[in-house]
Amino acid sequence: MNKKDLSSDIRRLAEAKRAVILAHYYTEGAVQDVADFVGDSLALAQQAAKTEADIIVMCGVHFMAETCKILCPAKKVLIPDPEATCSLAESCPGDSFAEFVRQHPDHKVISYVNTSAATKAVTDIVVTSSNARQIVESFPKDQALIFGPDRNLGSYINSITGREMLLWDGACHVHERFSPAKILEAKAAHPQALVLAHPECKAPVLKLADVVGSTARLLNYAVQSECREFIVVTESGILHEMQRQAPEKLFIPVAPEAPETPGCSCNECNYMRLVTLEKLYRCLKDEAPEVVLPEDIRKKAERPIRAMLELSAKLGL
Ligand code: 13P
Ligand code: SF4
Repeated sequence: MNKKDLSSDIRRLAEAKRAVILAHYYTEGAVQDVADFVGDSLALAQQAAKTEADIIVMCGVHFMAETCKILCPAKKVLIPDPEATCSLAESCPGDSFAEFVRQHPDHKVISYVNTSAATKAVTDIVVTSSNARQIVESFPKDQALIFGPDRNLGSYINSITGREMLLWDGACHVHERFSPAKILEAKAAHPQALVLAHPECKAPVLKLADVVGSTARLLNYAVQSECREFIVVTESGILHEMQRQAPEKLFIPVAPEAPETPGCSCNECNYMRLVTLEKLYRCLKDEAPEVVLPEDIRKKAERPIRAMLELSAKLGL
């Protein structure tokens, strides 16, 4: 079946089954185009929390679908490919993180949303790259803090807030592949362009950025800015929405230090790219694979996610 027919069938099934399709900016363009809502991790969690649909289909990675299930236990939550995990979430196994937390009983625990439900279950408050700074700053200055699992996002937040949070040593394999050398190459070729970078990148990469922020922040900045050229230092799926919202502007992807295909300038998350239109269609049709969680873990993981949503709403985020 061609993509157009497949997309029409997906929409027909979604409407017939009262299903909402949520997609992250890192999924392939055709998946973003068929979704009801496309957003960053915070916006996807906010959408899940307020949806009235009977079924949620998360076109993204597993922790995003888990977040939907944690917030909506009575709904059916589907994921087109359950193998779509996340290297960052996997760099922080729940039992090891729980032991780390036990070793620091005087610390409050902040976890990035890119974590398993088991890691969230031993967390005080969850953050995303859209609200991490504000949530960290909401703690008194003398409160000792643990931040996990992304050492790059954690160091970045330490550097802009002056905190000394204890960091878990995890990272995202996609963002770690960006190097200062490739950004300098792109800047030399496009001297007028601004550099937009995601805070999961390493510090030497972030030093070269004009704007550091979540995918939604980078997108909004690019659309509203007077500038017409942007070097985009995050997963290349975001270029689809950037180009859709600002077709007259130039968005330049940055090649990873060692591209998988020589000469290719895309840096794609192999997990996000497991979500295809074909799998989305099958998943809606069969209402499987479904995300299920043990109720005790779900309940414990719900508290820090709700804490994040409540604080974000208070802060107008
Ligand atoms: P945001 O959606 O918060 O920008 O995070 C990006 C990411 O890595 C999702 O996996
Ligand atoms: Fe995880 Fe990195 Fe892929 Fe985001 S880009 S889902 S952090 S592996």
